[in-house]
Amino acid sequence: MNSESSETIETVLQEERIFHPSESNFKNSSISGFDEYQKMVDKANSDPEIFWKDNALNELHWFKPFNSVLDWSNAPFAKWFEGGKTNVSYNCLDRHIEQGKGGKIAIIWEGEPGEVRKITYKELFDEVCRTANALKQIGIQKGDLVALYMPMIPEAAIAMLACARIGAPHSVVFGGFSSEALRDRLNDGNAKAVITADGGFRKDKIIPLKKAVDEALLDGSCPSVDSVLVVQRTRENISFNSDRDFWWHELVPAQSTECPAEQMDSEDRLFVLYTSGSTGKPKGVVHTTAGYNLWAHLTFKWIFDVRDDDVYWCTADVGWITGHSYIVYGPLSNCSTSLMYEGVPRPSNPGAFWDVIQRHQVNIFYTAPTAIRAFMKTGRNIPDKYDLSSLRLLGTVGEPINPEAWMWYRQVIGGDKCPIIDTWWQTETGGVMISPLPGVTSTKPGSATLPLPGIEADVVDADGNSVEPNQGGYLVIKKPWPGMMRTVHGNPNRFRENYWEYLKPINGNLIYFAGDGARRDDDGYFWVMGRVDDVINVSGHRLGTMEIESALVSHKLVSEAAVVGRPDELKGESVVAFVTLESGKEGTSELIIQLKNHVGKEIGAIAKPEEIRFTNSLPKTRSGKIMRRILRSLASGEEIKGDTSTLEDRNVLDELRR
Ligand code: WT7
Repeated sequence: MNSESSETIETVLQEERIFHPSESNFKNSSISGFDEYQKMVDKANSDPEIFWKDNALNELHWFKPFNSVLDWSNAPFAKWFEGGKTNVSYNCLDRHIEQGKGGKIAIIWEGEPGEVRKITYKELFDEVCRTANALKQIGIQKGDLVALYMPMIPEAAIAMLACARIGAPHSVVFGGFSSEALRDRLNDGNAKAVITADGGFRKDKIIPLKKAVDEALLDGSCPSVDSVLVVQRTRENISFNSDRDFWWHELVPAQSTECPAEQMDSEDRLFVLYTSGSTGKPKGVVHTTAGYNLWAHLTFKWIFDVRDDDVYWCTADVGWITGHSYIVYGPLSNCSTSLMYEGVPRPSNPGAFWDVIQRHQVNIFYTAPTAIRAFMKTGRNIPDKYDLSSLRLLGTVGEPINPEAWMWYRQVIGGDKCPIIDTWWQTETGGVMISPLPGVTSTKPGSATLPLPGIEADVVDADGNSVEPNQGGYLVIKKPWPGMMRTVHGNPNRFRENYWEYLKPINGNLIYFAGDGARRDDDGYFWVMGRVDDVINVSGHRLGTMEIESALVSHKLVSEAAVVGRPDELKGESVVAFVTLESGKEGTSELIIQLKNHVGKEIGAIAKPEEIRFTNSLPKTRSGKIMRRILRSLASGEEIKGDTSTLEDRNVLDELRR
């Protein structure tokens, strides 16, 4: 583990504040208190088959019930609820309408320019059916992969549900990724169609999404893609290829609202979502129908404890797993009202979030530490201008939250009466794994507290043995769970090696390693310390250092590059790149701008290095491995600690220091 992590240990050890559930105005209706939570945990541990079976039968609709709960004989390739037939779109729509809930608002959407749309479950159902029929009309069949590259508009959720309805797995690509990054994902997944919009509003700019799709598909570079469905959003001038492109507003409204949900096998793919790892290109995380649906449903129900007339708001983008599980599938499967917001707070509108909360009377709010830190910085006088009294619960996700930000969130936004729910999970886990439950768990600022029922989490050393309380180690999960990823698309070996064989099996049992370091305190509470692999977390966005390095090296003047994360007060981490140039080339300030833009073009603006330093050589071991530990210290202006004797050329250090 790197030096940043051990420092985190020292600060959190001093954290002794504790907030008991009785101090909030929260009474959990789905889990009555800590005793019931403990009973659920015990039941899940003593008889996991029955625990998962009961939950699956009680919480989901089945066209045909399953024959077996878990087949782990080919571990780590799990099969859950085999023999069962279900459909995620049915669970999110049809069953609620059958129970007379068709008139309830499913989605409240607010656009960046301020327009508001409220969509009932029945309206959403009709629109999903029409879209599903439109997809069929353009040739999409069960099993075909459909890519989405969209702004935060209701059509994004509609398109996801329409894909689920006809059994076409989706692959949502965040609209901030570049056309090159989009092309890689389209080709890796063999996408048959792309659903996009002419453009999207982001901050005070327009993002030309359709133009990026055109670039990605240029000259047959994505041979699998036959059609592009385009939502009109910004009314940009776009080029239109009538052999391939279809307008949503011409194709969809003309369709029938009759489209029975396809009866899917439990293990049919629901979606692929790309995420960065420590090696190579982003990997396509595969999630399947029943297990994912169950986990998104249960975790949403337990953690947010949303009441029937509540308005729930998660500020993520649908391009990330948080948007999948906690804007679309979790809330809709539970028949909740999910608010979707296209805008983001910015200097010209710093109170945007609080304004939305006040106007829509939001009760449950879920956002990221990086946003909270930015609000802290602009001061409490901004949120203080708004009436935030509707709030009952405040959630956080995406990166470790520092105790100061946690306390500020609780006091300033929550008025000292809302539980702070710090949820630890990942794209790979499908849903939340470690989190307090409102009205159940006592909270400590900066701790994600305890694993959810059914989740066996631990902190272990490199041999897989549990470490003592308050010792740092690897955060692992020791048993399969329904929402776990099933494989890396097209690369099962990578799935096995990266996640399940990174640490030694214990008594023959494989353990899942998540990539994070953590410790547990004397109460068994988890304190997540951040990634221990070569993944960096910039404003809750996950980036692979290798990906940024390859992007830099693909520039013709760059010979070698090493990328590290530097602790950043607002963003958590920022990207710092050390670059060596082809011989005879000079590192100028223009070249720095060029290289930053080059990374923006290869990956997307979120991956642009904040700082680029030129050097004649990089610190390497004799076997040629770049010593990132040294670069990390240099990037954050710290002294270089630890052993440097393995360094091949000690003069490098002097040069780098200069
Ligand atoms: C990584 C997963 C899961 C949705 C958002 C990100 C970090 C996430 C927490 C938290 C500390 C956290 C971890 C994890 N992370 N939530 N509450 N406390 N760290 O999903 O892009 O798959 O990233 O985000 O490092 O491994 P993701």
